[in-house]
Amino acid sequence: MFITFEGPDGSGKTTQARRVTEWLASLGHDVLAMREPGGTEIGDRVRAILMDRAHTHLDARAEMLLFCASRAQMMAEKVRPHLARGGIVICDRFADSTLAYQGYGRGLDLGTLRILLDFATFSIKPDLTLCLDIHPRAGLQRRASDLAGMNRLDAEPLAFHERVRAGYLALAAEEPQRWQVIDASAPPDVVEQRVREAILKRLAAPAKGA
Ligand code: TYD
Repeated sequence: MFITFEGPDGSGKTTQARRVTEWLASLGHDVLAMREPGGTEIGDRVRAILMDRAHTHLDARAEMLLFCASRAQMMAEKVRPHLARGGIVICDRFADSTLAYQGYGRGLDLGTLRILLDFATFSIKPDLTLCLDIHPRAGLQRRASDLAGMNRLDAEPLAFHERVRAGYLALAAEEPQRWQVIDASAPPDVVEQRVREAILKRLAAPAKGA
């Protein structure tokens, strides 16, 4: 079972991914928690390049390929072996982030991105994608309360983040059997409950290939 968390910046994905990991582990599942970009020694070095606010001149294609490079390493080193052992993988962001940010946000061609993503992910798709949806203004406000935590992409204008959010909603509408959109403006405990319900439903009725 491969579960991914997606959504605009400041939607609370990281908190929810952590809570869900602890919950599934407490139920006795073998859970691997990852976050993107990064999660491997090589991926973390790529992450440092991607997140550095001094890199204002990073080209959109180079940016996209760096995200894909980090992802390919994570799949090879961590995710594929864990899934092959029958474990659960929880990933805080995955390929859909590239479609939302580099595709809808930056305007790179979605068809080209899909081909590159298929390559970088070894054609592995999530079984369930939880989109924590929040208006970018609210998300960025949450993020701005922690200035040191602001990264290069948080610093993009509001219009960029609005395109990203619209992109997520379009992706979710395209594949409703894989996506679950959850209102992330609700209190964290309510969001957590909805996340658990979606996972329990999917664990009871796996939708692979549906
Ligand atoms: P991070 O600090 O992990 O933010 P968050 O907590 O919101 O996930 O930074 C990841 C940033 O990189 C975030 O702004 C989204 C962006 N991103 C992309 O643009 N493309 C991608 O493929 C991925 C994985 C992330």
